[in-house]
Amino acid sequence: MTPELSITIAGVRFPSCFMNAAGARCVTREELERLGRSRAGAIVTKSMTVEARQGNPEPRYFGFPSGSINSMGLPNLGYLAYAEMIPALRTFKKPIIASVAGLCEDDFLVIAKEINASRPDLIEVNLSCPNIPGKPQIGYDPEASERLLKRVRPLITVPMGVKLPPYFDPVHHQVMAEVIRRADVDFLSLINSVGNALVVDPDREAVVIKPKGGFGGLGGAIIKPVALANVRAFWKLLEGRVPIIGTGGVVRGIDAFEHMLCGASAVQIGTALVEEGVDVFERLERELAAVLAQKGYGSVDSCRGKLREL
Ligand code: SIN
Repeated sequence: MTPELSITIAGVRFPSCFMNAAGARCVTREELERLGRSRAGAIVTKSMTVEARQGNPEPRYFGFPSGSINSMGLPNLGYLAYAEMIPALRTFKKPIIASVAGLCEDDFLVIAKEINASRPDLIEVNLSCPNIPGKPQIGYDPEASERLLKRVRPLITVPMGVKLPPYFDPVHHQVMAEVIRRADVDFLSLINSVGNALVVDPDREAVVIKPKGGFGGLGGAIIKPVALANVRAFWKLLEGRVPIIGTGGVVRGIDAFEHMLCGASAVQIGTALVEEGVDVFERLERELAAVLAQKGYGSVDSCRGKLREL
């Protein structure tokens, strides 16, 4: 029998555990509709800001064999455009996740209120964009994160998730897990890109992207171990009570299986979607189903969190 790849997060059913990461091919209406027609288990919007943004100067994305680096700078249509689009995207009959960003704390409140009124199925609050010059990632400031989440929480009546940056120290995992607990968060997306990395082209003796002197967020296969560590750490600290969408390094079905063993309920696809297009979802479904069948798991749910420690 084919393993069951549908999952439920915060009471919302997803027809497949694979969906796009906020940022990957999800800025325009055309891109969002393409995700709707694809095998993606959800439509996740680009992280939206109050005003429409062109984003950072190009080149701002560079793919290489083991991953990618980007400094997009939140190019998006502005929240009003997405609020208007969401009702039409419902025709695709899969969950819509609105990703909310902001250039200051109050922006998040303005956007959350309006976007919530357009009734996406879930809202993901992005506290982790590393690419806005002069703006530190909010997720690295636990007090600011807690204040923002507690202000935004009452405005959101659909399940509210938070997209966090990677943490590299158990104390930071612990502090942020407490914040998540106190802020009444319904799900987590872990992780955003590994911020402020630098890729060098030795032939040209140059950086590979233009913004911020070449510094940008690292994604793709190269960051999988960091993503898995964060999924596992938050899964354990929150005792499996807060569903996690794993993001980072999912290139093949087996990568998704690893995320699920660590505790993820679903996975988001960034670099592989940018590189391969929406057909990636069908391939990943096929590969994950084969892994689960070969290992005797009947569903994604049945392997979640089963990672053995030695
Ligand atoms: C970007 O637009 O720069 C990437 C978005 C993000 O990392 O949250």
